Amino acid sequence: MKIFIKKTYEELSKEAAEIVKKAIQAKPNLVLGLASGGTPQGCYQELSRMHKEEGLDFSQVICFSLDEYLELSFNDPNSYYHFYRENLLNHINIQFRNIHFPDGLVDNPTEFSAEYDKKIKEAGGIDLQLLGIGRDGHLGFNEPGTPLDARTHLAKLTNQTIEDNARFFGKKEYVPKFVITIGPQTIFEVKKILLLASGGNKADAVAKFIEGSITPQITASILQKHPDTIVILDEAAASKLKGKY
Ligand code: PGA
Repeated sequence: MKIFIKKTYEELSKEAAEIVKKAIQAKPNLVLGLASGGTPQGCYQELSRMHKEEGLDFSQVICFSLDEYLELSFNDPNSYYHFYRENLLNHINIQFRNIHFPDGLVDNPTEFSAEYDKKIKEAGGIDLQLLGIGRDGHLGFNEPGTPLDARTHLAKLTNQTIEDNARFFGKKEYVPKFVITIGPQTIFEVKKILLLASGGNKADAVAKFIEGSITPQITASILQKHPDTIVILDEAAASKLKGKY
């Protein structure tokens, strides 16, 4: 893992967007894995600006979403599909047919999950995956205890994640309990990973996944074995690391 520590969230977001930009310039039909949540929003804003002001071209980019809430339709304002549209997709020239999402209304999530993995393989695999990290060390919605060899699957949110995500829903009770998420193994197979973490509330999870042991209790720890992972932190998120980076 290569670890970079930036002073602020703004610097972190700009650095992340630069890495995505360079990847698209090197491979215009990049297969890009998108992450939801508050952390990548600054990066998406910067990518939208790069498209508008610098002509960064997304016309051949293919994207896959990391996860989606079960029982929310694409049009639901709390669905991740809606999130990505608002934060990135509506602001760039990506083609609709190149956007892939788990369907929150699917009848058979298990069958759908296997199909989703197949679709990723058929696209040639994900070239670059953006990731955040949960306070419990989760990647995607791979909560503590998820087997590290799990692929895309139906997952149950922990209470802590429900509480963390209640800010998007207004009330804890409104947060769906289940999601379809890409699994740790699916993430491990991505060619290049770009994980972002910002804020003191992520400092414990960051220290554990970088410096602790590799364990299903911290699913992000699987990245210690990944051959090409970049981690960008702000100073607050890096504050509990013991090593020098
Ligand atoms: P956040 O979520 O970016 O909203 O903090 C990250 C995550 O849960 O993976």
